[in-house]
Amino acid sequence: MVEALAQINARFEASYGRLFGNDIATHGDEPFFQDFYDRFMGHSEEIRSLFRNTDLARQRTVLRRSLFDMATFYATGIVTARLRHIARIHQRLDFPIDLYDVWLDALISCVEDHDSACDATTAMAWRLALTPGVTYMKLWHRTDVSPLDGP
Ligand code: HEM
Repeated sequence: MVEALAQINARFEASYGRLFGNDIATHGDEPFFQDFYDRFMGHSEEIRSLFRNTDLARQRTVLRRSLFDMATFYATGIVTARLRHIARIHQRLDFPIDLYDVWLDALISCVEDHDSACDATTAMAWRLALTPGVTYMKLWHRTDVSPLDGP
């Protein structure tokens, strides 16, 4: 069982490397992120209007970094300062919690389309890797408690 999970994690890491290389913290100008925001915002007017004042070029870069923070949480259990900060920003945004699932679905569909070696197991590996981070964000969503004080 442990071995199976290790194999699934290896699929995630290999796919991440194919998509973004090993330079984790910078860039964001890959077609992947452009496509992600097209899909995510294409989902509804509600999402588009939330991003109406957002600098999308910057957004693509910070999203790239945040994927690394999400993967770190999955792999090590460590909530980075940046992940807490992102949770705090979203806590104040006025949107239904279900949009986190829309976000994750849009991201996985981009992985499936942009990573030519992605198969069903790889897509599941991505979902597993990002779910703890999404759950962390959901935990603080629309609460009055600061995630900076939390676990
Ligand atoms: C776990 C999933 C998500 C991650 C990792 C994520 C990541 C990020 C990051 C890194 C930022 C930039 C924060 C900064 O300014 O430093 C951001 C901003 C933003 N996110 Fe998310 N996000 C997620 C889910 C969502 C969802 C579901 C929505 C709902 C529509 C959303 C709406 C926004 C908006 C509107 C901004 C821009 C705020 C502004 O312009 O200042 N995000 N997100």
